[in-house]
Amino acid sequence: MSALKVLSVASEVFPLVKTGGLADVAGALPAALAPNDVAVKTLMPGYPAVMKALAGGEALHRWPDLFGGPASLVGGTSAQDAGKLDLLAIDAPHLYDRPGNPYLDITGKDWSDNALRFGALAYVAAEIGRGRIAGYAPDVVHAHDWQAGLVPAYLRFGPEAGPEGGRRPATVITIHNLAFQGQFPAGLLETLKLPTRAFTIEGVEYYGQIGFLKAGLVLADHITTVSPTYAIEIQGSEMGMGLDGLLRHRAHALTGILNGIDTTVWDPATDASLPAPYSARKLEARKTNAAAIRERFGLAPSEGMLLVLIGRLTWQKGIDLLLRVIPRLVGEGAQVAILGSGDAGLQAELVASATRHKGQVGVVLGYDEGVSHLMQGGADAILIPSRFEPCGLTQLYGLRYGTVPIVARTGGLSDTIIDANDAALAAGVATGFQFAPVTAESLAATLNRALRCFREPAVWRMLQKRGMAADVSWQRPAAQYAALYRALLAARGTE
Ligand code: ADP
Ligand code: GLC
Repeated sequence: MSALKVLSVASEVFPLVKTGGLADVAGALPAALAPNDVAVKTLMPGYPAVMKALAGGEALHRWPDLFGGPASLVGGTSAQDAGKLDLLAIDAPHLYDRPGNPYLDITGKDWSDNALRFGALAYVAAEIGRGRIAGYAPDVVHAHDWQAGLVPAYLRFGPEAGPEGGRRPATVITIHNLAFQGQFPAGLLETLKLPTRAFTIEGVEYYGQIGFLKAGLVLADHITTVSPTYAIEIQGSEMGMGLDGLLRHRAHALTGILNGIDTTVWDPATDASLPAPYSARKLEARKTNAAAIRERFGLAPSEGMLLVLIGRLTWQKGIDLLLRVIPRLVGEGAQVAILGSGDAGLQAELVASATRHKGQVGVVLGYDEGVSHLMQGGADAILIPSRFEPCGLTQLYGLRYGTVPIVARTGGLSDTIIDANDAALAAGVATGFQFAPVTAESLAATLNRALRCFREPAVWRMLQKRGMAADVSWQRPAAQYAALYRALLAARGTE
């Protein structure tokens, strides 16, 4: 039996281009699917870093004009240290040959032509899906987030679709974050090569605009999101971001599959970013790493709890809640180190807090993969006070590294961490702390609970070891994706 062929379509893929968890997932899932007899090719925009990785790759197809300029599809294998990826990149300099962030210009605003940049990604994915180019016809096209949301729309309505639609692979769309939906003016319909008949409520229309994610959610054969709890939450008005009605309507075709992590990239025993690599049996080595964190963040030597936060500094991530509990934490002898970038106001408040609590609170603004590994390798606890969190990855890295997660009880955070309540402690199954509701008061109360456990080294060690023993790999989730792909194809066979 030949392997099932999946085309994965994503706007960022680790280790080539990463702004958040989507890249980690798109980068690691293909290798995890291979043992399930699923062969994945990954289609992504040809940003400078991608074209560099594919230098010498062959052009498989050319477009004289792809949404405003010449383009080609380049295939190859990226041989980065995280393993091999079977890549297809769209080399379209007018769309992607720009410095910096994949979504934002240098001033932090969305690139003004994002509709075309990601419309082109979906358009090319659909062309490949139809088996017309690249000498390859995938069984399934798997689109990630709004940037790939138009894939099912092009397969249904695109210029190549023909009256019967022609060959059509099964389609899956994964919601990594419902807060980003990709809405653009209706006037772009023609530029995006979508016919007027696509502009209906059963198509790409969303409140008078073109909704990229909305189109994917209406038209894909199946929708997944990155945790079972988030799959339920987004069907309610509080977390549904306006799309809950549609998601309720499609509930029969919506599944939550937890993310895993790449346990080779994230392995405390071999991590090159750690001065002292370690295993669950040699946790003392973490002290050396903690000293390196304190030095990097300008913190004084201390035996108190070292609490870290790594992530995008936005409302979603509850950074303001952390700011409100910092004085109390410092009062209890704890230290806080924060790595992140984002909202200018939050950045300024964090810097002010570090100045006020010099030596006890440290902030590094910016994006630094190495520092994030170091923090996981030496901190006592990692805080994730998110208001909503589809899955969250830093708590999974925390589990793997023996950095005890303290998390808001929401989305994937509630699915991955076992709260250290009395019953869980007595049964020896706790792996961290959860707080709810997501307020500064309940966070403060939970931090007190965590500090009490921290002062009992045997209890803390048990939490660390339990966490390190948890299966956070891609093995289970990858098998679930493979089963889903197969079920979709089987259902087609009986259509
Ligand atoms: P999201 O995708 O919502 O940002 P996740 O927890 O799923 O949240 O994934 C975030 C990923 O980005 C993790 O791999 C995390 O370590 C990484 N990350 C976030 N901010 C930074 C930063 N400033 N420096 C280094 N890595 C970061
Ligand atoms: C999103 C979510 C995050 C999730 C990541 C990968 O960015 O905010 O919770 O872990 O995607 O799926």
